[in-house]
Amino acid sequence: MTNKKIIIKDGQSNNEIELPVLDSILGPNVVDMRSLEKNLGYLSHDPGFMATSSCESKITFIDGNEGKLWYRGYPIEELAENSNFQETAYLLLNDKLPNNKELEDFSNNISNSYNVDPSIRKIIEVFNKDSHPMAIMTACLSYLSAKYHAEIDIKDKEYRYKSTINLISAVPIMSAWILNYILNKDFQEPKKDKSIAENFVNMSFPDLTKEQKEMSAKAMDIIFLLHADHEQNASTSTVRLSGSSETSPYAAIAAGISTLWGPTHGGANEAVINMLEEIKNSDKGVEYYINQAKDKENSFRLMGFGHRIYKNYDPRAKIIQKIAHEYLDGLSNDNPNKPLFDIAMKLEKYALEDDYFVSRKLYPNVDFYSGIVLKAIGIPQSMYTVVFALARTVGWVTHWNEMIEDKNFRIGRPRQLYTGKNKTSYKDIKDR
Ligand code: ACO
Repeated sequence: MTNKKIIIKDGQSNNEIELPVLDSILGPNVVDMRSLEKNLGYLSHDPGFMATSSCESKITFIDGNEGKLWYRGYPIEELAENSNFQETAYLLLNDKLPNNKELEDFSNNISNSYNVDPSIRKIIEVFNKDSHPMAIMTACLSYLSAKYHAEIDIKDKEYRYKSTINLISAVPIMSAWILNYILNKDFQEPKKDKSIAENFVNMSFPDLTKEQKEMSAKAMDIIFLLHADHEQNASTSTVRLSGSSETSPYAAIAAGISTLWGPTHGGANEAVINMLEEIKNSDKGVEYYINQAKDKENSFRLMGFGHRIYKNYDPRAKIIQKIAHEYLDGLSNDNPNKPLFDIAMKLEKYALEDDYFVSRKLYPNVDFYSGIVLKAIGIPQSMYTVVFALARTVGWVTHWNEMIEDKNFRIGRPRQLYTGKNKTSYKDIKDR
């Protein structure tokens, strides 16, 4: 802690207090508001958490102005280039890159937990085939929270490690099973010697050739890595708040999945594909849609553009654009997904040269290209957010562990500005 302080003076009572400033390693320092109510009688008010740090964290840092993202201090570009999803999961969880032995043990622990309870398949089969897969996924997590309820002991490191590994292993298997079900395929078994991405692809698309499986697993692995964490977003904050009541980690992750499902959080890549398909099937051309997006009288927005934190190119979008190139170039020339990619590139070129988008700092976000790759791999649109959840489970459990180990760990309990009816008395119904 520094000696820096912020002084707040109450203009009415003339009382003043000094609030300590806590130093960050990267990003703005924060004002410790905890003594505000005790010493001055006020609460701080910040709907939407626009200027509120909800916790101390050592996991991920985003520089929105520069368009940069680091996991445990490592730039996302270097991890995408040199690492893989499982090694990155180890890094996020353990705050260090593993040596060979550590990575091998970690991977073995994950593959030993691939044997997910087959009763989950019965849960999946209860749903209509056209049910949203995110709803099915929360039901699967609900089943696991019941199954492991008796052993909850969140203060025990071993319990936390076991449930962490269980969740990282089980969510991808259950995702593949949901995909099997909605595509009318038999439930596939995971293989112990395969990575999470390989198993997900092999189980989801058993009919692909060996080469196709390898190519899709490579693309999928990077997509998982890029989605593994993104600091205190809505779903991660939900997992922290839910987990702060000391509930089951499976239940806390189910809460995170429910939050991720919403269209302003995890669902935009579906909307991008709808938009690209519409442009492809229309004869109006890309410029027409750019003008629609600029027109304030029109509700149309360029989907996959803009971000609350990034006021620059989302670094994940750059990497996914490269994967889209590699993946689609690797497919045959007449692949139906190529025109969508061409339209996306044209849209991006127009937008990046247009003053409307430049002046508002609207750049492609992660969703702009991810849907194109997922579509080319063959993932149905309704499953895109499940893929996101599968990857983000790593970030969620990392934050859950960090929160419980925090010396300031306590139940999360926001306060409020009450503007309702003043104190009053009950009136008998005949007197109302
Ligand atoms: N197309 C056209 N105009 C846009 C777009 C867009 N995609 N995004 C923002 N703008 C304009 C707004 O109209 C506004 O213009 P104004 O200042 O003239 O009124 C200005 O840019 C600022 O936009 P806000 O909506 O205030 O920005 P906010 O930070 O609240 O919203 C959001 C960010 C929701 C991502 C927005 O940019 C958007 O709707 N984008 C399209 C949907 C999308 O891609 N979402 C995925 C986000 S990434 C993720 O969550 C994983």
